[in-house]
Amino acid sequence: MADRFLMCAPHHFEVAYVINPWMEGNIARCRSDAATTQWNALAAMIGEVAHVETIAPAAGVPDLVFTANAGLVLGDRFVLSRFRHPERQKEEPHFARWFDEHGFKVLTLPPEMSFEGAGDALLDRQRPLLWMGHGHRTHASCEPLLEQFLDIEVEPLQLVNDRFYHLDTCFCPLEGGYLMYYPAAFDAASQARIAAHVPVARRIAVADEDAFDFACNAVNSGRNVFLNRASDALVGELQLRGFVVRQTGLSEFMKAGGSAKCLTLKLNEERWPLRQVA
Ligand code: ARG
Repeated sequence: MADRFLMCAPHHFEVAYVINPWMEGNIARCRSDAATTQWNALAAMIGEVAHVETIAPAAGVPDLVFTANAGLVLGDRFVLSRFRHPERQKEEPHFARWFDEHGFKVLTLPPEMSFEGAGDALLDRQRPLLWMGHGHRTHASCEPLLEQFLDIEVEPLQLVNDRFYHLDTCFCPLEGGYLMYYPAAFDAASQARIAAHVPVARRIAVADEDAFDFACNAVNSGRNVFLNRASDALVGELQLRGFVVRQTGLSEFMKAGGSAKCLTLKLNEERWPLRQVA
């Protein structure tokens, strides 16, 4: 069965406020035509191997394009995000409506508990485990509630670099139990927890250059890994493990602090995703 991804066309995308370091100096500096071209290219590339579904763009919520932050999907359950910043809280009703209308059970966290969905909560692709980034947007106190809502073990990871403010900017579980990640974005205890779960042969640590090019912000569907840009060394490492790297420039979205993965949300998240990469 083909994967399904939710995206939102960038008709109203712009940098209108600053809530992460990438946005600094970029207010009103996005080129709308270039953003549309880049978004269309990403959607078409993913569309070659998966189904792309869309949520209607809306004025006044320029970061709605980053559908990864809508919430967290597992089976037919959807835990709606509670954005940390008021600028993005206005997105919540749009996402709640879409998921309700599309047959998901929409679960909500208490109002004071910030949680930014699949930006910070990523399912391992080999074992029933949810990795949860905290420290910038998602509050550590979400851990027991996510465990309860989704009946899954949650492994918290502390993010320590404000350029890597969402887990999906620096951490990408890949099919077959591989993990592409940027170790320096995590505190020492979290790095040790990652090492305890993922054997060294399955860990792909990216260098600074790739991390700052948002290489970890990748969309994985089967053997395909879609991302903004990767060095030859990283492409080689992924190829060695059977992945096909598909690069497509997303510079306009990086001005807002996002890239390929942030622009998508996987809708068919199964509880036991055990498909192997040969
Ligand atoms: N400007 C957005 C924000 O700061 C970018 C979100 C990127 N999304 C992601 N999943 N990393 O919230």
